[in-house]
Amino acid sequence: MCGIVAYIGQKHARDILLEGLKRLEYRGYDSAGIATLEQSRGTQVMQVTRAVGRVANLQTAVDAAGGHLGSAGIAHTRWATHGGVTEKNAHPHRDDGVHGHGIAIIHNGIIENYASVKKYLEEKGHTFTSETDTEVLAHLIGELYRGDLEKAVQAALREVTGAYAIAVLCEKEPDVLVVARKGSPLMIGVGNGEFVVASDASAIVAHTTQAVMLADYSVARITRESFRSTTVDNVPLTSEIRELEFDLEQIELGEFEHFMLKEIFEQPRALRMTLQGRINARTGEITLGGVGEHARKLANARKIVLVGSGTALHACMVTSYLMEDLAKTPTDYDFASEFRYRNPIVEDGTVVIAVSQSGETADTLSALQEAKQRGAMALGIVNVVGSSIARETDAGVYLRVGPEIGVASTKAFTGQVMVGAMLAAYIGRRRYLSNDYVTSFLKELSEIPDKIERVLASSEAIATATAKYIHRENWLFLGRGVNYPVALEGALKLKEISYIHAEGMPAAEMKHGPIALIDEGMPVVFVATRNSQYEKVLANIEEVRARGGHVIAVATEGDEYIKTLAKEVFYVPECPEQLQPLLTVVPLQLLAYHAAVMRGKDVDKPRNLAKSVTVE
Ligand code: AGP
Ligand code: GLU
Repeated sequence: MCGIVAYIGQKHARDILLEGLKRLEYRGYDSAGIATLEQSRGTQVMQVTRAVGRVANLQTAVDAAGGHLGSAGIAHTRWATHGGVTEKNAHPHRDDGVHGHGIAIIHNGIIENYASVKKYLEEKGHTFTSETDTEVLAHLIGELYRGDLEKAVQAALREVTGAYAIAVLCEKEPDVLVVARKGSPLMIGVGNGEFVVASDASAIVAHTTQAVMLADYSVARITRESFRSTTVDNVPLTSEIRELEFDLEQIELGEFEHFMLKEIFEQPRALRMTLQGRINARTGEITLGGVGEHARKLANARKIVLVGSGTALHACMVTSYLMEDLAKTPTDYDFASEFRYRNPIVEDGTVVIAVSQSGETADTLSALQEAKQRGAMALGIVNVVGSSIARETDAGVYLRVGPEIGVASTKAFTGQVMVGAMLAAYIGRRRYLSNDYVTSFLKELSEIPDKIERVLASSEAIATATAKYIHRENWLFLGRGVNYPVALEGALKLKEISYIHAEGMPAAEMKHGPIALIDEGMPVVFVATRNSQYEKVLANIEEVRARGGHVIAVATEGDEYIKTLAKEVFYVPECPEQLQPLLTVVPLQLLAYHAAVMRGKDVDKPRNLAKSVTVE
């Protein structure tokens, strides 16, 4: 999703804004722009510079333009939803040059009723220079401006529907910055005589660690001395200033070439943080502070529904197997986007668990709100502290894997599965699981990070094997049971960063149609670890080999037989079947990473993708 940075203070805004945009590049975007208020012959003039492509292109354009010396400014990286990727559609957008008030706005989200508002404004004489919904909002604020920017923004936001995080400046009020949010993230960094507003902490922590997470439907009026927040109806709101738990070195590359590789290799340490202070493998105790007061309600749940998108959905799937296996609670999962609109039956005693790395995915947030509206208890398994989904839930468990910068989710997936496993055991222990069982399960869980270390050691061997197949444009990923979601995850990883078409499915499903795709040398990845369905998977492997497919197998250390069937074997250590996804996903993360690098793709910022999809 796009990025927003705004500044008002004593320093030149330009460098703070451009550095902030660079910190937000990981979120995914296609163009960028900046506006600063400049002193010119006794008046204030808005200077705007925009560029298609990388922030570096904007930096070049700003350097060429000169100026941008003002101490109030807004900057934006755009992820196009309305209108193509052009300089004219890039933000900031202005109100009407004819009878405008020198307003500039940047926006993350979608103004859903922009067409009707645009028609109304055109009938009043407004002319537009872009195809975007955002420009309509700029003109609407201008149309409603009566000398008070805060009031004009409030009035305009009462007229629009959709999702937004915005920052607005006006030439007639050079000492005022107005920001607002509904459904898209925005936080205010509180400095000493200065404020830095941004989509997430990575653009703020270099200046201050004191921040306010803006609540949905709130508008904030910020000057160099202070700020106040209200509802869109101008009802005052109290704002809690919090300490940001985020340090910059966590978002530095270090000795790695890409954030994705760094985060794959961070998994052992990250998962130790996920477990720290929450399990005692000696006594069998599980402490999940966030859900403690709801333990009885969870134990008595009649149904659990997990909702998420993309990789988070795959973690939902694994967790659903764990939940039924350990907690013996009927558990289902669904695409958040489907759950939201399929008129779901949510009966008494239903617990809905939203799984999300960013905590800002619009589909998942909407699904959670829908479930709450129907009376479900809402839990979250989220990475970003204080994110919209985290704040929407009745309780939750944070992943604690640290900021995930790479667009392709890796450590967040294993963190989500690790939390899902803890939660399943936590509920199971309050239902039918003996303490002995839980103690041995927690011991196995605590050994996972070390076992992942052993898998990471085979990264170069995986690269060598992958190199043989990177020219193949169609792959299949197959698995059974808890490893079926891993097959889906492996296919998604390969698709989203190497642009190779890959399809994941249950191994048994292949013979119901997709087997027609198998041709000579087609790479077919099997998750073939020793478990209750191992023999069945071997049979599926034979079906692929019989048609000339080349099998790449993820197998259990010591399994020599698999070598007689597969062209390539990636080994993982032995562990209980329910926990195998925590290990079997790692070779597939590495396979996708190496394939993308060898195909010369932009691993951390793949085309068309955003780190957090904050539009439905
Ligand atoms: C995963 O690699 C993708 N980047 C994408 O599928 C992602 O998992 C999905 O958009 C959900 O994001 P979230 O976990 O932040 O909600
Ligand atoms: N909907 C706006 C546009 O298409 C904003 C998209 C974004 O969030 O970057 O310009």
